[in-house]
Amino acid sequence: MPSAMSHLGRRFITVEGIEGVGKSTNMAFIGAWLEERGQRVTVTREPGGTPGAEAIRRLVLDTGRDQIPDQSELLLMFAARAAHLQTLIVPALEAGDFVLCDRFTDASYAYQGYGRGLSLESIATLETLVQGDLRPQLTILLDGSFELSVARRAGRTETDRFEREQLAFFERVRSGYLAIAAEQPGRVKRVGAEQSLADVQRNIALVLTASYPEFS
Ligand code: TMP
Repeated sequence: MPSAMSHLGRRFITVEGIEGVGKSTNMAFIGAWLEERGQRVTVTREPGGTPGAEAIRRLVLDTGRDQIPDQSELLLMFAARAAHLQTLIVPALEAGDFVLCDRFTDASYAYQGYGRGLSLESIATLETLVQGDLRPQLTILLDGSFELSVARRAGRTETDRFEREQLAFFERVRSGYLAIAAEQPGRVKRVGAEQSLADVQRNIALVLTASYPEFS
């Protein structure tokens, strides 16, 4: 992807966090916040977002399959991402939309890197290969404990390959996300997910206003 693409990331927002911390609810809040300010918003998710990438999502999340080696899992995430970028994310950004994405490459660092133990350098190599220098301008990390995640997921009947993982895995993933936030404080903004929803959304609005002062 040519380097001229990098400016496109200005309208690219991602939301991250372990399962059950309120990503869906707060994605809707962010989308509405932008639309209220007259912005067009393309809302999408990873892995997935396009028919081809959603097929890869089913492959990688389905519990009924043979064990998927960790390296295959990582490559499938980036295979889906390459299709998603080319077919949906880059065209939407080029058209002037905001793109609001439920998870992106930070999830590959957190889950495949910190969670599964794959090398962060190899993930960085794939990131450059697939994205060139396109990065989100803003990443909101909803940070909550494994206990919160389990409590919030209690009503869900279906579980995928990741949701079957145990405490130690999610603690590694969570601390991976926190490490990324500490390394890239300009881009990644941590919002505590244990607060009331009203407080979470107040904090998200503050982050959005700071990142996009033209809409304040
Ligand atoms: P979710 O859409 O319900 O959050 O499920 C997606 C799952 O995929 C979630 O457990 C995190 C995982 N995932 C990775 O492991 N690596 C990635 O790069 C992405 C985008 C997701």
